[in-house]
Amino acid sequence: MQGTALILGAALAACAFAQPPAYNQPYRPQYHFSPREHWTNDPNGLVYFDGEYHLFFQYNPFGDQWGHMSWGHAVSRDLVHWQELPVALPESDGIMIFTGSTVVDENNTSGFCTGGKPCMVAVYTGHTPAAAGHPALQTQNLAYSNDRGRSWTKYSGNPVLNLNLRDFRDPHVSWSPEAKQWVMAVALPTEHKVLFYGSPNLKEWQRLSEFGPAGATGGAWECPIFTKVPVAGGADSRWILKVGVNPGGVQGGSGEQYFVGTFDGTHFVNANPPSTTLWTDYGKDCYCALTFNHMPTGAAPVMIGWMNNWQYASKVPTSPWRGQMTAPRKLQLRQTADGLRLFQMPADAIESLRSSHFTWDGQSVADLNRALGEHAKGSSLELQIVMSPGQASEIGWKVFSGGGSYTTVGYRNGDLFMDRNHSGLTDFSPTFPLRTAVPVDTGGKPVELTILLDRSTVEVFGQSGQVALTNLVYPPAGAQGVEFYSIGGRPGPVRVDVWQLRSGWK
Ligand code: FRU
Repeated sequence: MQGTALILGAALAACAFAQPPAYNQPYRPQYHFSPREHWTNDPNGLVYFDGEYHLFFQYNPFGDQWGHMSWGHAVSRDLVHWQELPVALPESDGIMIFTGSTVVDENNTSGFCTGGKPCMVAVYTGHTPAAAGHPALQTQNLAYSNDRGRSWTKYSGNPVLNLNLRDFRDPHVSWSPEAKQWVMAVALPTEHKVLFYGSPNLKEWQRLSEFGPAGATGGAWECPIFTKVPVAGGADSRWILKVGVNPGGVQGGSGEQYFVGTFDGTHFVNANPPSTTLWTDYGKDCYCALTFNHMPTGAAPVMIGWMNNWQYASKVPTSPWRGQMTAPRKLQLRQTADGLRLFQMPADAIESLRSSHFTWDGQSVADLNRALGEHAKGSSLELQIVMSPGQASEIGWKVFSGGGSYTTVGYRNGDLFMDRNHSGLTDFSPTFPLRTAVPVDTGGKPVELTILLDRSTVEVFGQSGQVALTNLVYPPAGAQGVEFYSIGGRPGPVRVDVWQLRSGWK
């Protein structure tokens, strides 16, 4: 059967970006946030306030390696066009500003807000490195802003929580209607525990409970998030406790797990046995993901992660920046045969970047690849795919293909996988080249994929977001091809939509 191809809009190849040179180096993502220059790791303090999404991020203002940790700052009105602002919270008095969260204090519970208006309060870990005579110290601290995050004052009463520990970090704070107070989840990394605290005013904290060890404990627990996520198909919701693990992630190095359960205002109760490990992402490059606080009423929770892995973060071949974020993802819980599971899909805002569109529905692989070769090249693309193995033992896609390089996204023996062994530059770390895979039971239905590509990023969402695979790649210039392939027999029909995505840099 011949397939049908439809190409809408201008030829994809003619879609030149109009981004400023500062954001047009090799590998520079066009709709994922990265700082203009220098080092970043975790996203911090994600919050929506007064029409703006704020993305703070672990930042070294002085270089492209980890150090002098401060909170960099960017704002966006739509989650895809970002504007970087001056550093919000700089390292000072020898105390680095580690990961944390930001809340909007609607009712001035903190006393920091002026003019009868809500203000922004950041809750972060102050990290004092070890020095002669004293070990390292991590404490929880506050800073506030009364001008929509443009200027910040560190609270004179800092720290607000000090257990005199070397490892005690990454507070995630939100308002809990259950507890009728602020609730903080904060990690005891080496004990594989999350401590819960409550506070009426963000300044005085009382211990509520603790959670863990449970799930994956192969490395330090970091970057907890504790947030309510709606259950699909009703008004119900559950609490998610997400915890970073480094090392000991599912693909080696850093990775993230989550627990799903209930919260009575004091205790989080895991709905699964402690031995159950649930991973948020089966790629290698999504760490310390954070959800936005204070989202508009009715909006789905949106999460952004650091697209990297501590195994090689210091070596990734980008310049003059190092470190970038994942696409924003909307979260939902869905009932599965194993219980409630987290589903994630690209946030709706990504659709606003779509330009030229190629669509195909058919069975001739040769015709499909000819049409793709002519009309669907690109380095910032969204692909939506429905495919079935038919008689083939493996079906899949080569993306960022050209000059002998390609990244494979495929389905074989019930596994969805991504292989970046031949993706281009891979030799900067022995732990970089790899194939990442996850079992996906399609229940006899076709395989459904949404794939986001952006110069050095591949994000795959399988079966409506039941699984996510996030990986960095460094393809050679010009490797912009997309091809379908099958091995071992005739594949079933293929439906694919490809959109060129515009740059978010203005
Ligand atoms: C995780 C992490 C956090 C810490 C931050 C320091 O990537 O180690 O636990 O707050 O990075 O930059």
